[in-house]
Amino acid sequence: MPNEPIKKGKVLSILQEKGGCGKSCAIFNIASYFSRAGKVLIIDLDGQAADITYYMFGNKVGESTDNMRSDIMTIVDVFRRHINIDDVIMPYNESIHVIPANIQVTYLNEGDKITFFKKCINHLREIYDYILIDVPPSPNRSHVLCLSVCDFVIPIVNPDSASPKALISLNESIEEIRETSNSGVEYLGIVMNKYDGRTNLAKEMLNQIELLSDKFGTCMFRTMIHQGIALSEHILMHQSIFEYAPKSKAAIEYEALAQEILERINDMEQEEMGL
Ligand SMILES: Nc1ncnc2c1ncn2[C@@H]1O[C@H](COP(=O)(O)OP(=O)(O)O)[C@@H](O)[C@H]1O
Ligand SMILES: [Mg+2]
Repeated sequence: MPNEPIKKGKVLSILQEKGGCGKSCAIFNIASYFSRAGKVLIIDLDGQAADITYYMFGNKVGESTDNMRSDIMTIVDVFRRHINIDDVIMPYNESIHVIPANIQVTYLNEGDKITFFKKCINHLREIYDYILIDVPPSPNRSHVLCLSVCDFVIPIVNPDSASPKALISLNESIEEIRETSNSGVEYLGIVMNKYDGRTNLAKEMLNQIELLSDKFGTCMFRTMIHQGIALSEHILMHQSIFEYAPKSKAAIEYEALAQEILERINDMEQEEMGL
């Protein structure tokens, strides 16, 4: 079982400035593991795909047949229509709740203020032990809002030639946020997903990403998530990997990764408190 949750809710994001690398899938699975230890909220800020909303609920929410459901409330209603943030939260189960997304979320812009979002998040920190934020691939207002409230960020990479570039670009965004709206945002570590150690490209990319993580003052998680069929299937069943294939290699890897994440959160907090 995971460690006891820390008293005040932690805010983190598994993110990257690149599509298809496994951000939403990872948030779903990590949130699912964290929910064994405490209350978890997922905030979907990806209006382009709203994929975590779809992965978790399918078309059970709303009436539309695609995953751009227009008839649900999102963070945009909180920003623009003064709807209370508690009223846009949907339960996935008893311990995982979700603020869903639809196409409206792509219209977040500079009028949707960071200070207001911070206040909302601070209120949610009193209710949830862990808050995980999912963002779209291309950096936009969702990224700025997310990075402005995160305690920790976990970039996710694949063993492909686009990942080092994406990581460099993400690091620039993080540096900018540190100078403007959130000096305290820290890397928790970098996670390698869809790894296949049989290829030379994968090994070479792993080397490059290790060097970059060092440069950015962080390190990779020991646990890598390998390419696996169960990870492409579980989202279609709207179940986490622990529900869909609890004995799979993927579930074992995600459990190890989630434990490592919790350990690093603990270590960094202790360091901060000078213990
Ligand atoms: N380790 C993995 N092995 C195989 N498929 C994966 C793995 N991780 C994620 N996927 C699949 O890759 C696709 C993209 O994942 P997703 O989490 O939606 O990416 P992102 O949110 O970064 O755009 C999904 O179909 C997902 O099921
Ligand atoms: Mg996604």
